[in-house]
Amino acid sequence: MSKIKITLLMNFLELTKRRYSARNYSSDMVEQEKLDYILECARLAPSAVNYQPWHFFVIKSDKQKQLVQHSYPRDWFAGAPLYIIVCVDSAVAWVRKSDNKNHSDVDAAIATEHICLAAAEQGIGSCWVCNFDADILKQNLHLSPTQYPVAIVSLGYVKQLPEKSSPRKDLTEIVSIL
Ligand SMILES: Cc1cc2nc3c(=O)[nH]c(=O)nc-3n(C[C@H](O)[C@H](O)[C@H](O)COP(=O)(O)O)c2cc1C
Repeated sequence: MSKIKITLLMNFLELTKRRYSARNYSSDMVEQEKLDYILECARLAPSAVNYQPWHFFVIKSDKQKQLVQHSYPRDWFAGAPLYIIVCVDSAVAWVRKSDNKNHSDVDAAIATEHICLAAAEQGIGSCWVCNFDADILKQNLHLSPTQYPVAIVSLGYVKQLPEKSSPRKDLTEIVSIL
């Protein structure tokens, strides 16, 4: 994924193959129109009962970026020019009555993947990160007691494509036809 503008017509399989966890960013900022496009794709994600329990924090300023990096201290992560933090409010999300399951994580995961796929389509690398210190983010973002961060997505142009893609299980291992 280079910054050179390439117009590609991709089918969905090609797009899913194009997305991967990018951990090697150039300092070039993602253009506002691409960021707007990515956020629009997140906004249009489906959610249980259409409750849309999410909030997206776009982290651009140096001060806020340092706070986010403090929650996940990794050199590669600190090199990303931009982050989107996907938060949800468990008090807003749908709860299934039969077993009381709150669906906020499910809703957030869909929106997060929309972000990653939209970024890939726009030639922007992304990495979905969950191994952060949630308390640091909750404090810095002033989240309410029912709100919590689900994922940080690092975004940026990548310096170098990985040599090989991450392996996946074979369909025969993960599909049962009953
Ligand atoms: C829910 C979730 C949490 C993840 N958390 C992290 C993380 O904290 N740090 C990281 O470097 N990658 C993280 N990843 C990226 C995965 O390691 C990666 O998606 C997986 O190894 C497959 O590789 P690929 O994305 O390149 O296809 C996460 C991915 C998902 C879906």
